[in-house]
Amino acid sequence: MKNNRLTLAARPGNYIKKSDFVMQSVDLPPLKEGEFLIKVLFLSVAPVMKFYMLDGAGIENPMDLGDTMRGRGVGEVIESKNRDFQIGDIVQGKCGWQQYVVCDGSPYHMMYKVNQRGLSYSTALGILGMTGFTSYFGLYKVGELQQGDNVLVSAAAGGVGSNVGQLAQIKGARAVGMASTDEKCKLLTDKLGYYGAINYKTENVSERLDALFPKGIDVYFDNVGGELLDIALTKLRRYARVVCCGRISQYEDRENSNYSLLNWHKIGATRSKMQGFFIYDFEEDFPVAEKEMARWIKEGKLTYQEDILEGLENMPVALNRLFERKNIGKQLVKIS
Ligand SMILES: NC(=O)c1ccc[n+]([C@@H]2O[C@H](COP(=O)([O-])OP(=O)(O)OC[C@H]3O[C@@H](n4cnc5c(N)ncnc54)[C@H](OP(=O)(O)O)[C@@H]3O)[C@@H](O)[C@H]2O)c1
Repeated sequence: MKNNRLTLAARPGNYIKKSDFVMQSVDLPPLKEGEFLIKVLFLSVAPVMKFYMLDGAGIENPMDLGDTMRGRGVGEVIESKNRDFQIGDIVQGKCGWQQYVVCDGSPYHMMYKVNQRGLSYSTALGILGMTGFTSYFGLYKVGELQQGDNVLVSAAAGGVGSNVGQLAQIKGARAVGMASTDEKCKLLTDKLGYYGAINYKTENVSERLDALFPKGIDVYFDNVGGELLDIALTKLRRYARVVCCGRISQYEDRENSNYSLLNWHKIGATRSKMQGFFIYDFEEDFPVAEKEMARWIKEGKLTYQEDILEGLENMPVALNRLFERKNIGKQLVKIS
């Protein structure tokens, strides 16, 4: 059987191009004892993938040219010589950008069985996967959310951000989201649990924040870094928490990727905390988050937003959509 895969052909510039990858078709080897074969159903697309592609600039180890592009996916076991994984099991883990994965169940692939809970398999990469967990632990653990808090969120209509407003609302807090278009802002307030929305491209963010949160903000859930973070710092209340989840505004252009904060002193003046995190720090508690969010979905308290392209060949296009600000909700690609 043939396996199509996308390998890294070039380091990316500011934007990801199709020519940064090469499609290869290779024969799948017969399974050895302990191995199982996964047919990939969906692949996740995330900003961090640009770091995987870059040489030496990484949060994680950079990839070598010629490597199969790294990334998580959800798939179905279609052949097995491993006692722990049976044909028909739905699994989630490090699949890479390919149609089939030969897996030996070792920690490298971080492969685990998905509790499907009657939802689309795609949710194992979105709301009930790393994206949802990032929203959940970022807000509740790192952000130490309290009832009545005023919460500000950047990239609020993106994968992580589209959950944060709802998670705030569920705990009796009020969230304002920032996004780049009126369409996204409308979605935030109409569907995604946000009390208010700011189009940071066309509106004066500082003035709008003064109007929406006159007393200031208790939690800033930061997905973008840069200038929006700097403005948010000027609005902190006493004992506020700044959750440094990501800084996509600084991923785009490597030459201008070190924005210097002007207002960092506001952290001291307001006795606030600023904390980064890596979602795998919370791995032990993933089942707790998964169970609770699945229950909220069932109860109609939590909804999820996905943006799905089709076809392995469209993975580079999908990844670039994040940097072009085109995605609404969690960006995914349906492979099979
Ligand atoms: N700490 C962790 O363990 C962890 C885990 C997962 C993700 N993350 C981080 O969390 C953030 C969100 O991840 P995600 O997967 O949900 O991605 P995402 O929010 O869907 O990312 C794409 C969105 O980012 C915004 N964006 C793109 N370029 C921008 C720019 N130059 N300035 C401001 N905003 C820009 C756009 O939204 P707008 O239209 O609103 O601009 C775009 O739609 C990322 O920074 C990611 O690296 C961290």
